[in-house]
Amino acid sequence: MDSSVPVIAVDGPSGTGKGTIAAHIAQTLGFHLLDSGALYRILGIAVLKSGTDLNDGPAVAELASSLDIAFSPTEPGVVLLNGEDVSVQIRTDEGSDMASRVGAIPEARQALMQRQLDFRKSPGLVADGRDMGTVVFPDALLKIYLTASPEERARRRYKQLIDKGIGAILPALLQDLKERDARDSERKISPLIPASDAIVLDTTELSEEQVTERVMKLVHTALN
Ligand code: C5P
Repeated sequence: MDSSVPVIAVDGPSGTGKGTIAAHIAQTLGFHLLDSGALYRILGIAVLKSGTDLNDGPAVAELASSLDIAFSPTEPGVVLLNGEDVSVQIRTDEGSDMASRVGAIPEARQALMQRQLDFRKSPGLVADGRDMGTVVFPDALLKIYLTASPEERARRRYKQLIDKGIGAILPALLQDLKERDARDSERKISPLIPASDAIVLDTTELSEEQVTERVMKLVHTALN
């Protein structure tokens, strides 16, 4: 890890468009991209596959340290766990649920720390997650915290699923999202909160284009 390499941290709850924005910034600047949520999702799926006890923190940490995880350099969003393509599985509701469960285990967070730091390579890194600006890269050059009302985030998720031809029930999605938010915000270690020096952007009333425009302005100001 080279601490002179600039990091742009994009944090916030799910459904705020963080992933899309982070990928856009990385592509525009030619920076590396860390989707830290994918690491937690992969660990969650690995816990399921191996039958590891979620109450056994050291065992989950050992599993986290031993995982062979690869992000495809050519196909965005494609991730391999021990050589197996788990890209679809990690994005299921089960994958989301397991990610937030392993994310609440302090030993698991510690075990994933070095993997995240290793993404910091020249010419720069865009890091997307929950604790990028607070814990993993506290010295990030720019910290953006995206937020939106739970109702709007659930509506966005609903639309995404319907557009993909996947059936969904809006009140159930909202309920799941609120439970995951509560687990992410109330956990003792690395809770979901904006860094004190983060720029908070509420996207509830903004289109994707408006969010992109505002974020890119912040990015260019920070880099110049
Ligand atoms: O960002 P994404 O929705 O893929 O994250 C899935 C889950 O992983 C989150 O709900 C959160 O519980 C966990 N997570 C985390 N810390 C991160 C990124 C994700 O705890 N930096």
